[in-house]
Amino acid sequence: MNTDDILFSHGEGDIPFKALSFPIFETTNFYFDSFDEMSKALRSGDYEYVYNRGSNPTTRLVEKKLAALEKCEDARLVSSGMSAITLSILHFLKREDHVVCVNEAYSWAKRFFRYLSKKFDVEVTFVPPNADEVLRALTRKTKLIYLESPTSMRMKVLDIRKITKVAKEQGIKTIIDNTWASPIFQNPKELGVDIVVHSATKYISGHGDVMAGAIAGSKEDMNGIFQDEFKSIGSVLSPIESWLILRGLRTLEIRMKRHYENALVVSDFLFEHPKVLEVNYPMNPKSQEYELASSQMSGGSGLMSFRLKTNSVGKVKEFVESLKVFKLAVSWGSYENLVVPRAAYGDCPKEDVNLIRIHVGLGDPSKLVEDLEQALRKI
Ligand SMILES: Cc1ncc(COP(=O)(O)O)c(C=O)c1O
Repeated sequence: MNTDDILFSHGEGDIPFKALSFPIFETTNFYFDSFDEMSKALRSGDYEYVYNRGSNPTTRLVEKKLAALEKCEDARLVSSGMSAITLSILHFLKREDHVVCVNEAYSWAKRFFRYLSKKFDVEVTFVPPNADEVLRALTRKTKLIYLESPTSMRMKVLDIRKITKVAKEQGIKTIIDNTWASPIFQNPKELGVDIVVHSATKYISGHGDVMAGAIAGSKEDMNGIFQDEFKSIGSVLSPIESWLILRGLRTLEIRMKRHYENALVVSDFLFEHPKVLEVNYPMNPKSQEYELASSQMSGGSGLMSFRLKTNSVGKVKEFVESLKVFKLAVSWGSYENLVVPRAAYGDCPKEDVNLIRIHVGLGDPSKLVEDLEQALRKI
């Protein structure tokens, strides 16, 4: 199935009243015509529509599209990216298991591992974002490897195939956060990963107005997560939000292509600027990571970071406050142009004071370059 078919028609069938747009099934309940039908549904683990904390037709349609986009057998939408992360981690770990996690994974994912370690004696090894480091940390107790590639602050790329080959040989499950590349540019399942998670708050919804998460994997793993964690923890997404994601998905591919075009223009400018020490954008051929990155991804998103040639917090402050088109705001993945100075965080290490993350949105990239240029002139 090609991407157009997935985004524009897959799973939609005959829509009532010949409406062209798929409806929002805003209902908590689904009724049955007979005792037998009800009993069959209540006894079956995979009967689709009983109660909205399980499945909903609007949500299920989006899940089918996401599964197809990620080339996985099934997918589930949940109420946030963090929920996608925690539900899938919980599914594969039990007391005293060992897990390896890249130390540049999303901060709240790392925090959740620390919580599991304190509360359930899960042993966690955080390693630098590099395949050899991940493999070196494996022990006989390792049950899970948690990856993010590219990472979302320094955009570090992992050799995913190298990690999953060993993980499969040793029966270790792998989860990857694929939010940066989106399913348009990277399909980790094809690189051997078991579970793909997304903050659908970012590109998948794409308009900066929905919080959601997605989990994709094999039928068996997804059914396990659905029965054991999803339904009992209850982090269900409302049908209205699923529908907003459906609307966002229609333009996912063209948005991602535009993010990539814009990001190439902006990163080209930054690579050449004398006041910029380092640029982290792996899908620019000027990046040292390009060879590995382009062997796993077919394009890049709008998220990148760079280091200013200064160690002064004052200069960083002046730079970000001089930007007019880029707004100071966390998150990313929509049409907006955003900036986050690492120095604004309480836990910023000294060596990262000059690290600036930007999200390149969907507008005219020459305006973004102009904005960065005038702000760089000020410092
Ligand atoms: C890479 C990455 N993964 C996961 C998350 C968590 O997603 P959410 O905010 O939707 O819970 C974020 C949030 O910023 C993120 O940047």
